[in-house]
Amino acid sequence: MQEQETIMQIIQEARESLMRAATTGDLETLRVHFQGRKGRLTQLLRAMGQLPPEERPALGAMINEARENISTMIEAHGALLRQREQTARLAQEAIDVTEPRPAGRAGGLHPISLVLRDLVETFTGMGFEVVEGPEVELDSYNFELLNLPKNHPSRDAQDTFYIEDNIVLRTHTSPVQARVMTTQQPPIRIICPGRTFRADEADATHSPNFHQMEGLIVDKGIAMADLKGTLDAFARSLFGDGTATRFRPSYFPFTEPSAEVDVTCMVCHGAGCRICKGTGWIEMLGSGMVNPKVLEVCGIDPSAYSGFAFGMGLERIAILKYGINDMRLLYEGDVRFLSQFR
Ligand code: DAH
Repeated sequence: MQEQETIMQIIQEARESLMRAATTGDLETLRVHFQGRKGRLTQLLRAMGQLPPEERPALGAMINEARENISTMIEAHGALLRQREQTARLAQEAIDVTEPRPAGRAGGLHPISLVLRDLVETFTGMGFEVVEGPEVELDSYNFELLNLPKNHPSRDAQDTFYIEDNIVLRTHTSPVQARVMTTQQPPIRIICPGRTFRADEADATHSPNFHQMEGLIVDKGIAMADLKGTLDAFARSLFGDGTATRFRPSYFPFTEPSAEVDVTCMVCHGAGCRICKGTGWIEMLGSGMVNPKVLEVCGIDPSAYSGFAFGMGLERIAILKYGINDMRLLYEGDVRFLSQFR
């Protein structure tokens, strides 16, 4: 039978071309060529109508068998090719997880945050607890309870941002003292860091928005010596072992007596330089013994308890500690400036 030979030939051809198929794409082309609707076996099947009826079943069976044969070969070779292609792709896409990558840009902390962390660490180490208060504050906490009477100059609209008649943007962190003393009996040992506001024009040494940290201790038998010892420890911790403090008499309505506290100039270590204007000392904070009047209006018995308080500006510390010459740099968010602090 001539067709039988043709079929054998087709199978042979299929086998040979399959061997040459290098990709799954080649294989698909072959599949269409041998088995598609216009494929050679299909053509044979169509031509069967011209044969005598008795020959058709045998030929039909042969064609089907050939089809299956070729199918099996294509399938087997396809599996091999797919496997090979996958292996190649995996090799190409391989990621070496141990390969060192270029160093990314690491973020850093803002100088104010660095100073704040230092302070919090120093004071919590001495047993102080961190307390926060609102930035939008009632007049009573910001002024009244701190013995700042209605006609006090710092109530002037030039210094204070008023929200309403009796609501202000807090001008210092001291109102947190009043909040704690009106709700808590001694012993009290707190620091209160946070944002503060004054209606100042921004320049190299002023900003309408700045930061302070308040400290307050109220207990039995607290004396000025405790204040001095605490601030000495603070100065040494922040600026190094050789740092000393100096107390100068001053006035704050909420403390009596009051003192300005200077620390040894961290630039010249006391020798005298441009930064400390030749004095060897840098003014660092305000402090004093809590005014008994303040204890009393806050609901703490001044005959049983005494306390000390202090307040400092974080910008000032950052400026001195890092040698920053313009306060505005702290608020501009310029990466060239900020990336110097790590
Ligand atoms: N509140 C003062 C200010 O803003 C700083 C201050 C001074 C706070 C003396 C105190 C203190 O607690 O005792 O300038």
